[in-house]
Amino acid sequence: MKKRIMAIMLAALCALSLCACGGKDSGSTASSDAAFTTVTDGVLTMATNAYFPPYEYYEGSEIVGIDAEIAKAVADKLGLTLKIEDMEFDSIITAVSTGKADMGLAGMTVTEERKQNVNFSDTYATGVQVVIVPEGSDIKTVDDLQGKKIGVQLSTTGDIYCCDDFGTENVEEYNKGNDAVMALISGKIDAVVIDNEPAKSYVAANEGLVILDTEYVTEEYAAALNKENTALLDAINGALKELKEDGTLDSIIAKYIPAE
Ligand code: ARG
Repeated sequence: MKKRIMAIMLAALCALSLCACGGKDSGSTASSDAAFTTVTDGVLTMATNAYFPPYEYYEGSEIVGIDAEIAKAVADKLGLTLKIEDMEFDSIITAVSTGKADMGLAGMTVTEERKQNVNFSDTYATGVQVVIVPEGSDIKTVDDLQGKKIGVQLSTTGDIYCCDDFGTENVEEYNKGNDAVMALISGKIDAVVIDNEPAKSYVAANEGLVILDTEYVTEEYAAALNKENTALLDAINGALKELKEDGTLDSIIAKYIPAE
């Protein structure tokens, strides 16, 4: 009898000390019971490049958009405070893989190459690479880009595809999508290859530009996470699933992308 009580007490003690260890620097989630850690306790640090409307852009000094709102909803579900860090698109994967940010959320396309450095969450949106040209351009299809000067945002999938398909010598890389659009307007380049939603907002904001009625590449957007932090990956996937199921994701997307 005594032996049994001792064993139970011992088991309880083990469980307690396990809990204490697992609890360090971690939050617990409504979506899953697994303890996860974040770069800063209680904070979800999101790395983005806030020149990509309607996914992320500045409204005054505040970063708003689909990704910003999804991140806020995820952070709320996980009991964390959201902190958004704006950086070059090129730096986001490094910030995540070196443990400076918890997640990259930037209309980022899932690619096999990026998967070597980060894990991706479940996808939350679809993107299409499209071609912007000046009205009346002789470029009518993707194939017509052959031999033309194409502007892209540095290190984006548009950049990678265009370099592969049309040669690096024909591709001009800009830090921001908008810089590529400005170069197009001033006639420095012949076309811009970029994701469809930012393309729509650039074309709406500038006269004399059109989006070709052809889809270059269709892709999936997801959050990038540190390879080591699979507990946070699980927690974020759990939160995304809940937000999908209760309609929050759809309503955030509908707010920024009105139905056509
Ligand atoms: N979807 C493209 C990619 O992943 C472009 C994303 C650019 N995002 C941004 N926030 N600037 O490469």
